[in-house]
Amino acid sequence: MILRFICLAGVLMTSTFSSAADDVIRTPFGKTKEGEAVDIFTLQNSKGMKVRLITFGATIQSIEVPDNKGKMADVIVGFDTLEGFLTEHPYFGGTIGRVCNRIGNAKFSLDGKEYTLAANNGPHSLHGGKKGFDRKNWTAESFITTIDRGVRFTRTSPDGEEGYPGNVRLGVTFTLTNDNALRIEYDAITDKSTPINLTNHAYFNLAGSGNGTILDHQIMINATQQTATDETLIPTGKLAPVAGTPIDFTKSAKIGERIKEIKATPIGYDHNYVLEASSKDLKAPAAVVREPNSGRVMEVYTTEPGLQFYTGNFLDGTIKGKKGATYNQYNGFCLESQHYPDSVNKKEFPSTILKPGEKFSSTTTYKFLAVAE
Ligand code: GLA
Repeated sequence: MILRFICLAGVLMTSTFSSAADDVIRTPFGKTKEGEAVDIFTLQNSKGMKVRLITFGATIQSIEVPDNKGKMADVIVGFDTLEGFLTEHPYFGGTIGRVCNRIGNAKFSLDGKEYTLAANNGPHSLHGGKKGFDRKNWTAESFITTIDRGVRFTRTSPDGEEGYPGNVRLGVTFTLTNDNALRIEYDAITDKSTPINLTNHAYFNLAGSGNGTILDHQIMINATQQTATDETLIPTGKLAPVAGTPIDFTKSAKIGERIKEIKATPIGYDHNYVLEASSKDLKAPAAVVREPNSGRVMEVYTTEPGLQFYTGNFLDGTIKGKKGATYNQYNGFCLESQHYPDSVNKKEFPSTILKPGEKFSSTTTYKFLAVAE
């Protein structure tokens, strides 16, 4: 039993007595190529759910949750060691910014000035550029309250970083609650107007990382429309109904059932869903995914208007991941809460511009349950 004192949002708080199991532990995880120390935090709640977060990329390294018989599995696709995260990889578990998803032709205009970004996805900018937030080492502080525990990651993205204007002070707070939810709260302020769109790029496999494909998982997405795109995934600016197409998941269906009907190379889901108003303010789930064998269920709640459903289409077996597993196509899925892609160039979409004096905030929660078959 330990009595803890913690300082959260400037207020000194005293936690109740808690057992060592219900805890946050910080340990060294290695060093970046530039010699910066990277730490890993292990969070555990009163039910035994564990989450590991690393300072490099403010990244989710693992989430261990029980199945319907109480058997734990790590449902996050990724790496066991920092060396893995330091290699080129498709954003496993990372915090993505300054602007997640695509910016068409890697260009935008703001207040009469044109900004050019690195083109890292054909002619487009993807996920914050060459060295986005997922490749930066963040400052971190853990906290424990009477009801939950977590880690707050902070950093300043300097004016001109990856071509974006303004010094942006960022915070990403991960909280593990006792009802098996991982809440992610993003906040930001800036000294010049800038686009901002933050997400987490965790790949999930509810059967356990490395346990085959996610094609048998059932998914419901609370969206009747998507943002229509060209073949390079840049939105046209129009919203298109999902009804009558293989991307309609208003009723829960197997991910693999209609996946081959998707006309894309490589084949698979990589779509931004326009969430229904009922999902706003975290009231109803934006998505619910169930893995039939384990009974594990993940509910996603978000304040964001969009959700990118991506089925790991580009995974091609070249990456060696946790416990030596190779990750192949469809070995994990992502549900990336976000403002719509290329919003900075689409006046008709909800704005992603943060101005000086304003505060950006956004919340997404991944909640885990287990149900009988
Ligand atoms: C996002 C994109 C995909 C792909 C992955 C990373 O989900 O929409 O097209 O780039 O990230 O591989």
